Amino acid sequence: MPTVYVAMSADLVHPGHMNILRIARDLGEVTVGLLTDAAIASYKRLPHMNFEQRRAVIEEIKGVARVIPQTTLDYIPNLMRLKPDYVVHGDDWKTGVQAPVRQRVLETLTTWGGQLVEPSYTDGVSSTKLHASIREIGTTPEIRLKRLRRLLSAKPLVRALEAHSGLSGLIVEHAGRNIEGVRREFDAMWLSSLTDSTARGRPDIEYVDLTSRCATIQNILDVTTKPIIFDGDTGGLAEHFVFHVQTLERLGVSAIIIEDKVGLKKSSLFGTATRQTQAEAREFAAKISAGKDTQITEDFMIIARIESLTLGQGVDDAMRRAQIYIEAGADAVMIHSQEKQLEQLLEFCNRFRRFIHQVPLVVVPSTYSQVGEQALSEAGARIVIYANHLLRSAYPAMVNTAESILEHGRALESESELMPIQDILSWIPASPATLPAQQHSHNEAA
Ligand code: SPV
Ligand code: MG
Repeated sequence: MPTVYVAMSADLVHPGHMNILRIARDLGEVTVGLLTDAAIASYKRLPHMNFEQRRAVIEEIKGVARVIPQTTLDYIPNLMRLKPDYVVHGDDWKTGVQAPVRQRVLETLTTWGGQLVEPSYTDGVSSTKLHASIREIGTTPEIRLKRLRRLLSAKPLVRALEAHSGLSGLIVEHAGRNIEGVRREFDAMWLSSLTDSTARGRPDIEYVDLTSRCATIQNILDVTTKPIIFDGDTGGLAEHFVFHVQTLERLGVSAIIIEDKVGLKKSSLFGTATRQTQAEAREFAAKISAGKDTQITEDFMIIARIESLTLGQGVDDAMRRAQIYIEAGADAVMIHSQEKQLEQLLEFCNRFRRFIHQVPLVVVPSTYSQVGEQALSEAGARIVIYANHLLRSAYPAMVNTAESILEHGRALESESELMPIQDILSWIPASPATLPAQQHSHNEAA
């Protein structure tokens, strides 16, 4: 019996997939190479269903003899192993980003006389439309909460951007660029205490209480699907922190980051310019353990933020604390630092990589923005947080508009910089059933 190889993501299975599989099974015994979450995330959004769920669907389809993982976009490793007589793929890959992949498949197949069969693309089925309808359905707290851990296991670097309102949440949700065939998006949202406070005209000193912060979260939850990393400041008293953990879990927040400070917390961006007391490591660790003991789901993450570098305590102190916090149950470590401690930061990353307990490392390049994602990832970072950039970009634009109206005694001169009213009308969901994904000028195309 001839052997046939079909590679697919099979997240939203539609009649187009069935057509391919029908043709494949008429040719011989079908092996489906199911792309892993990591293979898919290497060029587009994480699939809605995880690998095991997708495998469970495909395995049951008539004529599929077996399902094996395809761990890269590249077919060649699986083809070399199976040496199939046929590969079947829709003809839509002859042009565009997949064309080079197709070329390599063709060349590889010729080495053993295999053939490529390319049924014409099934008209009337659009994954783009299917994805948009999934977004209309939205998400649930459970799906959203789990998504951060899924991203961490599928992507080398998870990219988070600050959101402080429903509108800024929509920007993080929908902003995207296609760069050399790879869809680039933000993976997650950072609920910054600095920007949530600033947007209210309040200082970042833990003055805005959790109830108010939850109102911001709720506004963002209502219009987005991406996972949330919550800036929990110091976490407060351990006795209060445990309630915060459960509140955030119920909402579907994926992670809380708490920083090892006590007393009146001020923004770390002040560095040593303001008096700040670092928490005693064992006491802070006890808070982490209390949180881990009370969390209800397995997936919620408590991330320990180390302030040794911003407070001038050095790398040894940061390493000592990392070990204590991880042993107390921290699911990840955030190392905060400013540009002047960049060397120390890189030394920390280097030493952290050699730790026995491997947990993800989070970095916040607010003051060392010259260091790009590639370098951060190579240094060992698994999550990068752009912590305050949407708020900081909106504010100067608003000041300019206010001053322009004053200067000219009218609004005309400011108008070229303004968002057209039409965009407001089309951007903002009129009802949950018409999420802006369909109308956005920068919506997802895949
Ligand atoms: C925040 O965004 O509130 C943070 C990060 O905690 S930083 O402002 O850099 O301390
Ligand atoms: Mg903060």
